[in-house]
Amino acid sequence: MSTTVIILAAGKGTRMRSKLPKVLQPLAGRPLLGHVIQTAKKLHAQNIITIYGHGGDLVKQSFAAEQIEWVEQAEQLGTGHAVQMTLPVLPQDGISLILYGDVPLVRQSTLEQLLEASSQSGIGMITLNVENPTGYGRIVRQAGKIQAIVEHKDATDEQRLIQEINTGIYCVSNAKLHQWLPKLSNNNVQGEYYLTDIVAMAVADGLEIASIQPELEFEVEGVNDRLQLATLERQFQQQQAKELMQQGVHLIDPNRFDLRGTVKCGQDVQIDVNVIIEGDCELGDNVQLGAGCILKNTRIAAGTKVQAYSIFENAIVGENTQIGPFARLRPGANLANDVHIGNFVEVKNSNIGLGSKANHFTYLGDADIGADCNIGAGTITCNYDGANKHRTVIEDNVFIGTNNSLVAPIKIAQGATTGAGSTLTRDVAEHSLAVERSKQFEKANYQRPQKLKK
Ligand code: UD1
Ligand code: CA
Repeated sequence: MSTTVIILAAGKGTRMRSKLPKVLQPLAGRPLLGHVIQTAKKLHAQNIITIYGHGGDLVKQSFAAEQIEWVEQAEQLGTGHAVQMTLPVLPQDGISLILYGDVPLVRQSTLEQLLEASSQSGIGMITLNVENPTGYGRIVRQAGKIQAIVEHKDATDEQRLIQEINTGIYCVSNAKLHQWLPKLSNNNVQGEYYLTDIVAMAVADGLEIASIQPELEFEVEGVNDRLQLATLERQFQQQQAKELMQQGVHLIDPNRFDLRGTVKCGQDVQIDVNVIIEGDCELGDNVQLGAGCILKNTRIAAGTKVQAYSIFENAIVGENTQIGPFARLRPGANLANDVHIGNFVEVKNSNIGLGSKANHFTYLGDADIGADCNIGAGTITCNYDGANKHRTVIEDNVFIGTNNSLVAPIKIAQGATTGAGSTLTRDVAEHSLAVERSKQFEKANYQRPQKLKK
């Protein structure tokens, strides 16, 4: 059966006190609505219909690359009214999952379970038993069967004692939505069109309402303010950390680890505190990340040891390399095996060959460095002439002395050596020594300037 995902995202989110629409606020590096869309895609939903309102243009722009049908709800007259807006584009057959742009973490497996449970009667929902149900819609059952949902404000004192609440997530056949939604009324305490009223309509039609509960409570938690956002972020991070540890990753402190994307880890990976991993990353067997490292869209091969506070973005790192502390690998840094990149070394758009080393204070940009080279401390590839970028080519087995400026385009051929402090503007032939330096000037018995007496 084809599945439609309907996402309610028209709320203002006043309590965030932000210019950014609530559903664009980030959780684990992705907008709240982005999480829901991602989950909808994992379910292979035939179509995703998002109901927008406040800040709609920005919301639409943010997901311009996605295949989404946007439906406007200009005035927020209730959850039932919101879903009514989809009727002109809602297919006649198939089934719909009704989700929320500010309930970001409901999992694929839970929704699959809901779809399965609802397949018989064509209507099902996710409920939750809570200690304090204040504010939520209550699930009214008779002989165990769901009869209705009563909103807190409309509930009797007796109904308010019910601890099973409505999470707001439903699965309903499209044919039934077409039949029921036009019949909703706003005859209630809040004067809103309640989506929850379709439950009583289903019961009146003789249907049994399926229900499931989520495995993890945070799956159905919504975000209304910054405190809830931060709390949900932490719960999600703890869950991700737990899953990584179950796969065998050694997180030294799971409470001080943030994953804002995905990471594929080999065996015996060790991650020290305050590491942040963003985008899609991969860590090979026995990789160690020191404290405070930040990785984005980076692949690090087996046996590599990264010391504290090293930063990576769109980098590829070979096996058994040593990096950091305080190294910066920028987009296009491509390191072969056994490379050493030490403190305060920046690498950008450069290939570094097998076994080569740059251990201290160096900038390597737009460079192709061969195998077994040693790049002296303080070396700079002068890759930019103010208008264009040029490449520096350093062949195998080159020794670059300390504090060299290599003015690109330039090629240092294999086996060459350069003297400390050289500014090289011309190619260097293989196996030769190049030194560019003025003669040392010396004046005997030199008197330094003295301070003037007042
Ligand atoms: C709703 C449920 C309640 C449930 C609770 C769970 C109804 C009538 N009640 O109540 O049973 O326990 O969720 O959190 O459905 N929205 C729109 N357009 C609107 C109104 C709401 O898009 O016109 C969106 C909001 O942005 C929000 C969601 O729907 O994401 C829920 O709306 P909200 O007003 O918070 O519902 P509750 O009163 O909490
Ligand atoms: Ca010089």
